[in-house]
Parts: sequence; structure tokens; C-alpha cells
Amino acid sequence: MALALLISVACSGSKQQENEKTEAKAEGKSIVVFFSHAGENYSVGDIKVGNTKIVADYITELTGADQFEIVTHKYDGMAYGPLTELAKQEQQQGELPPYEGDIDLTPYSTIYIGGPVWWGTYPQVMFTFFRDHDLSGKTIVPFTTHEGSGLGRCVRDVKKAYPKATVLAGFDIYGHDVRTGRNKVEKWLKTLKD
Ligand SMILES: Cc1cc2nc3c(=O)[nH]c(=O)nc-3n(C[C@H](O)[C@H](O)[C@H](O)COP(=O)(O)O)c2cc1C
Repeated sequence: MALALLISVACSGSKQQENEKTEAKAEGKSIVVFFSHAGENYSVGDIKVGNTKIVADYITELTGADQFEIVTHKYDGMAYGPLTELAKQEQQQGELPPYEGDIDLTPYSTIYIGGPVWWGTYPQVMFTFFRDHDLSGKTIVPFTTHEGSGLGRCVRDVKKAYPKATVLAGFDIYGHDVRTGRNKVEKWLKTLKD
């Protein structure tokens, strides 16, 4: 029930995003930046590797891009229910949880940015990363995994964080489909080269 509510809250922006045309093509040196939460999750049970990490690994492998994982241990071991409550609270309060390590994105012209949809947009820790990295002039390729919200508000929020970047239309896939979804990712990546 909690997820149904989440998704109805979160779906408002997805239609518009779906209709957006790709504005430019991914090119130059690229990197996949992502956040993913392993552990208990909706529809897939207790997973050792998070859904978005699986997609990030496909993109890395298929494009030869570098990779940076946004890591926080804040949610380690949390059950799904309490995690949704904490994530909602973080979003409402605009919290920006710290992440571990860092990366200089200067050499990259294309940044794939991916994460799960949490309450309609990316988890707050990703916004901490956005705050710390100026991607003006770069091409950003957003992607999400989700359980019904599609891209949610993610593309809109990335555009808001990076008004001077070129933000492509984005790609989304159901979290419970990622383990058999390599072909879908490959097909999508081909559209960026056409
Ligand atoms: C805290 C939390 C909030 C979520 N909110 C949404 C949501 O608003 N819309 C949706 O479709 N799925 C939602 N989900 C489901 C996740 O987006 C989905 O399971 C995703 O594939 C998880 O990716 P990960 O394993 O990489 O973290 C939520 C899951 C969690 C844990």
C-alpha cells in the first residue's frame, strides 16, 4: 500500500518526460555516476546487488565508460518500511546526507546519472553529489530504476540542478526487470548513437 501511494505521488512528471525528445547525443569521454541500495527492497526481496547498480554495470560494460558509485552507509541493513519513512523525511526536510569518496568529473563530457526513484525523484544523497559537482556544458544522460514511477521527477530535477548542461530524455526500467534487462539497456544505448 505504501508503494502504491509512493507511485501515485511520483508519477505526475513521467508523462511529460516520456514525451521529451532527445536533445543531443552522448559523445566524448563518459562516466556512469550512480547510487543504488542493496538489501531489502520492494518486489525483489533481499538483494545483494542493487537494481540500479546492475543497470550501471550494463552501461559501463556496453559503452566502456568509467564508473563512480555514490556510497553512503546511512541505510545499511534497514528494512524496506522504515527506509521509505526515512527517505520521505529526508526529502521533505531537504536533507543532504554525505557520501563517501569523490571524483573529479572535469575530464568527462558525458555523464550518465542513475539511481532508484525514491518518492518520485532521486534519493537525497544524489542531490548532495549534484551540489558538489558543476556539470555546466556537459551532456547528462539520466536513468532510473523504479516500480512504477518511470523517470518520475528525476529529469526535471537534474535540469534544475544543472541549467547549463544538456540533459537528454533519459531511460527507465522496472527494478524487478533489470536482471533480465540487459537487451533493453543495449537497445536504448544504441539510440544515443544514431
Ligand atoms: C525509500 C524507497 C522509496 C521508493 N519510492 C519509489 C517511488 O516513488 N516510485 C517507484 O516507482 N518506486 C519506488 N521505490 C522502488 C525503487 O525505486 C526500486 O525498487 C528501485 O529499483 C530500487 O533500486 P536500487 O536497488 O538500485 O536501490 C522506492 C524504494 C525505496 C526503498
